[in-house]
Amino acid sequence: MSRVSYVNGRYYPHSKVSVHVEDRGYQFADGVYEVILIKNRYLVDEEPHLDRLDRSLQALEIDWPMKQASLKHVIKEIINKNKLKDGIVYIQITRGVAKRDHGFPKKSKPTLVITARPLLMPHLNTNNKGAKVITIPDIRWKRCDIKSVSLLPNVLGKQAAREQGAQEAWQFDEEGFVTEGTSTNAWMLDTDNNLITRYLDEAILSGVTRLTIIDIAKKEGIKIVERPFTVDEAKKSKEAFFTSSTSFLTPVVQIDDVIIGNGAPGLLTTKLLASYLRYVDCPKSNTLIS
Ligand code: PDD
Repeated sequence: MSRVSYVNGRYYPHSKVSVHVEDRGYQFADGVYEVILIKNRYLVDEEPHLDRLDRSLQALEIDWPMKQASLKHVIKEIINKNKLKDGIVYIQITRGVAKRDHGFPKKSKPTLVITARPLLMPHLNTNNKGAKVITIPDIRWKRCDIKSVSLLPNVLGKQAAREQGAQEAWQFDEEGFVTEGTSTNAWMLDTDNNLITRYLDEAILSGVTRLTIIDIAKKEGIKIVERPFTVDEAKKSKEAFFTSSTSFLTPVVQIDDVIIGNGAPGLLTTKLLASYLRYVDCPKSNTLIS
């Protein structure tokens, strides 16, 4: 089946679709995006994703290209046209097309691109063997709370991880505190069984999965502490994992050369993953694609 994508009001065969060479997303990374999971024809946590999209757009003073209700309709259409059961929707909004000049153009119409594709999820089960992460200096800008398409440091970090046989790179700030992964949020369990993840500030993206896991953990009586932790602390942790819409909750069994716990996904991590999988499969938390 051939893929279908949406650009500025029209659906196109994916192989034929393009945006203008002077789109500011292309020239300046002047745009924002969201990635939403589709599981069993449900859109997982659609509302918090659209809320975050709104915050990102406001931060960059980019107008909504259409009403939120219309956007929801297009998202459903694109999932249906691509006949997806499990996959992801990618939504990108840039400041639009204008003659190249750094300042905002006086007039420009935001460019809206929506694509969707299947996502293989064999790693998303409780038999997950766990991942290795490497640690790298965080060289990104100081507004990582905005989900901007300016992702070059993240791209370089992920590539470095892959070249070292790892699945993710945890970035650390100038004081040695872990900020987040290149496309995920970072977590650890300390020896007193406190589940620790960095508080929300401008150094990290407010992950939708992060918020959901905090809710689930609180309901399960797990003590959550939102504070920065150092790379050294993470290496001494009992358990560690990372979260995102596409990796769900992935156990971390190695950080650089240090094995975490006994080298297998920890008990609490495995329990939380099972709870998260139940959450994702629960129609109440998600939007059915009709
Ligand atoms: N990445 N931190 C960063 C830097 C991210 O890019 C992401 C998401 C997250 C987790 O956010 P969420 O739980 O809302 O997916 C944290 C997406 C999946 C991506 O860029 O493909």
